[in-house]
Amino acid sequence: MDDFRLDDNAVRELLERARTRAGDDGAAAALARAGAGSPLDAEDAAVLWYARAIATDTIVALARRARGARTKELDTFSPLYLTNTCDAACRMCGMRRDNTALVRETAELDVIEAQLVTLLGRGMRAVALLTGEYGAERRPWAMRYVNAALRAALRLGFDHVLLNVGSVGDDELPVLLADVERGADGALPAKLTMCTFQETYDRRTYGKFMGRDPQNPRSDYDRRLANFDRARRAGFRLANPGVLLGLCPDVAFEMIAAIRHVEHLRAAGMEVYLSVPRLRRIAGGGAGREVGDDDFARLVALLALALPDAKLVLTTREPRPIQRRLTALVGALSAGSSAVAPYTEDGARFPFAASQFEVLDQRPFEAVLEEHLDAGVTITNFRDARCH
Ligand code: SAH
Ligand code: TRP
Ligand code: SF4
Repeated sequence: MDDFRLDDNAVRELLERARTRAGDDGAAAALARAGAGSPLDAEDAAVLWYARAIATDTIVALARRARGARTKELDTFSPLYLTNTCDAACRMCGMRRDNTALVRETAELDVIEAQLVTLLGRGMRAVALLTGEYGAERRPWAMRYVNAALRAALRLGFDHVLLNVGSVGDDELPVLLADVERGADGALPAKLTMCTFQETYDRRTYGKFMGRDPQNPRSDYDRRLANFDRARRAGFRLANPGVLLGLCPDVAFEMIAAIRHVEHLRAAGMEVYLSVPRLRRIAGGGAGREVGDDDFARLVALLALALPDAKLVLTTREPRPIQRRLTALVGALSAGSSAVAPYTEDGARFPFAASQFEVLDQRPFEAVLEEHLDAGVTITNFRDARCH
């Protein structure tokens, strides 16, 4: 299987056709097909994006119905930032290297282990490990550091570990994965996920936010895009791509590009989590615009209809009312803090000045998840420690 390549001309042509169809009778036909039970094709998803005579709540209700019994299953994980240092310069991000407003912290390995133990003690059995992305000088350190945290998480018994540590080169993957046990076929442990959000699939917007400095690996669009293909060849079977909403104003383009990326990963045999975070405030101020609640809900619903076997990820970046509206449409709900080593026995610290971005719902993850347990939803990777 070749590396993923996005044919952006084909995406723009699809969007043109969809825009025309949305004006004709195409919208009603697409809506009927969406209700008929088979996955929505990408062009129909774009038609329904443009057809604003059809209310977002109609599409949300359709997506909910299409998910059927799966609305009663939810995956979860909590983020654990190992450090908030970074050598990259993404303009929307609190951790960018030139952000003098950010208070920098790096947790030692013993602190990370204590955090992992705290999470497990609170019933959280899935964790995303996060760092910045580093230039040539600090990359070897970063790979060894993440490897140590990963091994600790696996040794302590986490059921699912996600790595959100920037893109990783072919030559670096063996360091990242050193001493991680593999199956007979060379595959990594059942639940180890590579997370690299493209942020935007539009090259111009990517350059505007992620920069164009060749010394900064994060500014290389193609390197980022092929990260899952490298990861797959190194044994990863789970991928978590994503779009950061608020960078590219053309949300329909991002939707179709993300669908194409997920289709590629599925065809390559990977299980896929798809994240669609919305931009939040950062210390020092950042760039970007807001995507409104209605557009956000519409996007999540259309992605759920188009990609029934990918798990959409919703996080506590989103306030409670949005969670209530959309949790039935997603495969994973993730709660936690974007500060370094933030967890306590019964909650988390949310120091804005040391966080990657502002998290709107700061309740302990037990409270976030219990709402859904109470509604009869089964939550993988979380054992409610308070009730037993
Ligand atoms: N350094 C790693 C880890 C990123 S953290 C990397 O860049 O891959 C995970 C995600 O947080 C990013 O991929 C981005 O989508 C998101 N993010 C960055 N800035 C944000 C902001 N201001 N508000 C909300 N999410 C943001
Ligand atoms: N930015 C990461 C992500 O979206 C980390 C994360 C996951 C996160 N869940 C969160 C950050 C909840 C804050 C709150 O995957
Ligand atoms: Fe660094 Fe990641 Fe933030 Fe970019 S998004 S500045 S790589 S932490």
